[in-house]
Amino acid sequence: PASNPGLVERARKAKEALGDRLFVLGHHYQRDEVIQFADVTGDSFKLAQQAAARPEAEYIVFCGVHFMAESADILTGDAQKVILPDLAAGCSMADMATFDQVEECWDALEDAGLAGEVIPVTYMNSSADIKAFCGRNGGAVCTSSNARRALDWAFEQGGKVLFLPDQHLGRNTAVLEMGMSLDDCVVWNPHRPGGGLTREQLERARMILWRGHCSVHGRFTADSVDDVRARIPGVNVLVHPECRHEVVLKADHVGSTEHIIRTLEAAPAGSSWAIGTELNLVKRLAQRFPDKNVSFLDRTVCYCSTMNRIDLPHLVWALESLVLASEDTPVVNRITVDDDTAHWARVALDRMLALP
Ligand code: 13P
Ligand code: SF4
Repeated sequence: PASNPGLVERARKAKEALGDRLFVLGHHYQRDEVIQFADVTGDSFKLAQQAAARPEAEYIVFCGVHFMAESADILTGDAQKVILPDLAAGCSMADMATFDQVEECWDALEDAGLAGEVIPVTYMNSSADIKAFCGRNGGAVCTSSNARRALDWAFEQGGKVLFLPDQHLGRNTAVLEMGMSLDDCVVWNPHRPGGGLTREQLERARMILWRGHCSVHGRFTADSVDDVRARIPGVNVLVHPECRHEVVLKADHVGSTEHIIRTLEAAPAGSSWAIGTELNLVKRLAQRFPDKNVSFLDRTVCYCSTMNRIDLPHLVWALESLVLASEDTPVVNRITVDDDTAHWARVALDRMLALP
């Protein structure tokens, strides 16, 4: 499909027909065949900021995953319709924290007399009802580009943080950026009674990390770093903070997707870089910087399978449905969040957007 000129032409024509009524957002992990049609590309923070940037656009086609489209719906007006070209584009990490599981954890913290001092902070990569849970309970959302600032804010509000759902981002930020020790962190396992933790462990902890992870970044290991250093002398290892702690410890640099891109933009010609993040982005960076030696951190390929579900046929189908939409023919794949959930999720998102 990537080289299917018929589909490329159809996408181009549909975009042209929709003009300013359409705004296409594309996450950096999207395929080339899709990203070429994005009006704005970004990491999840930049896309959340951008979602509301075009209030005159009736349709926001979100080339990314479900939780991002939900956030866009929450941050935009009722008149704007957010479309996800394939409803199966979810996120395995977001699915690791369900509302019922989080409520169960919160009840247990209340029973232990701790809920009053715990501030819930959820990574953007979570469903709207988890964001709403945080909004209702005095907490906030964060992304990989502002986790440190969100945690600083949270620790000004209370003595402990419940960090959802990515244990690695939570641990890496607390230990490597905020100087906490590994002993300050405990992991709440939603599949074990009481999270698998004793009351003493909960009382001692500063960071209660949810037992979730990214199936893409979780595949990099400490061996991947040793291996690439042996293969490429002088290589700089640059990884995303969703990677495991031992990987980040061995890396030279860590940062969000936007940070990775900016680091490569500033890197000198001739330098070598091994990047620990999603493969569509790494391949695009290698093409964009032919004067730098950019490679993937691991020998095995590692796309995000759900990001990849948004392909050119799905994009064309979604765009053409918008061209044809009328009162009798509703748009396809609209993502909506109910008013109460949207209200409280917005409270948590606004706390993030207001961070200094
Ligand atoms: P960022 O866009 O915040 O870098 O997050 C990466 C990711 O996994 C998105 O799904
Ligand atoms: Fe989810 Fe990881 Fe894919 Fe991002 S890269 S959408 S966190 S599975």
